[in-house]
Amino acid sequence: MSPLRIGVLISGSGSNLQALIDAIHKQEIHGEIVVVLSNKKEAYGLQRAKNHQISAEYVDSRVYQGDHYHERIMTILQEKQVDLVVLAGYLKMIHPDMIAAYPNGIINIHPSLIPSFCGKGYYGMKVHEEAIAYGVKVSGATVHFVDEKPDHGPVILQETVPVLWEDTPESLQEKVLKIEHQLLPQAVALFSQKRIEVVGRRVKIKEGS
Ligand code: GRF
Repeated sequence: MSPLRIGVLISGSGSNLQALIDAIHKQEIHGEIVVVLSNKKEAYGLQRAKNHQISAEYVDSRVYQGDHYHERIMTILQEKQVDLVVLAGYLKMIHPDMIAAYPNGIINIHPSLIPSFCGKGYYGMKVHEEAIAYGVKVSGATVHFVDEKPDHGPVILQETVPVLWEDTPESLQEKVLKIEHQLLPQAVALFSQKRIEVVGRRVKIKEGS
C-alpha cells in the first residue's frame, strides 16, 4: 500500500500536528504529511512543520476572500494529491464544496465527548469551562469525520478523562490534550490501514490483518 498523503489544517500551536509528525517518525502511521495550511499567520504549527521540512503555508483571508478562500485551500490540497485532510485545531468552517470533494476524507479532533460541549462557539478554553460548570464527572476527546454541521459527523474514536473537584479549565485542557495526542494519530493510522467503515452515523473499526 502506498503511504497515505495527509494534509493538515491548523490555526494555532499545532501540538496535535506534532503528535502526527512524531507518530509518522515512529512508523505508527504509514503516511506522509505533504502539506500544512494555516489561516493564522502566527500559528506556531507552521514553524513545527518547517522544522520537519514539511511544506507549510499561511493562507491569508484578506487575499483570498469569500469563496476564494476554500477554493485556494482545495487547489493546494489537490496539487499535493492529499488523500486525508486532518483538522488539527483549525478554527474555520469547512465549505460544503470541500466536504463533497473529500467524502469521509476529512477528520477533526475535538476536546470533549461529542455530542457534549461542542458545536458553534465551542472551542478553546470555553469547552473545558462549560464541562466543569455543568458538573460532568468525565470529559475527553473525540475524533470524527467532518460533515456540514460543526463537530457533528460520524465519531471514529473517543477517550475519557476524569473531571475532578480540583480541576480548573486549564488542568482539564491539559489532561484532554494528552489524550488527543494519542487519539488523533491512532485514528489516522486506522484510516491509513483502511480499517474505518462508516455505516450511517456509526463507524465500525475493522480488525487489523
Ligand atoms: C485541540 O484541543 C483540538 O482538539 C481543538 O483545538 C486544539 C488545538 O490544539 N480542535 P493544537 O493546536 O493541536 O495544540
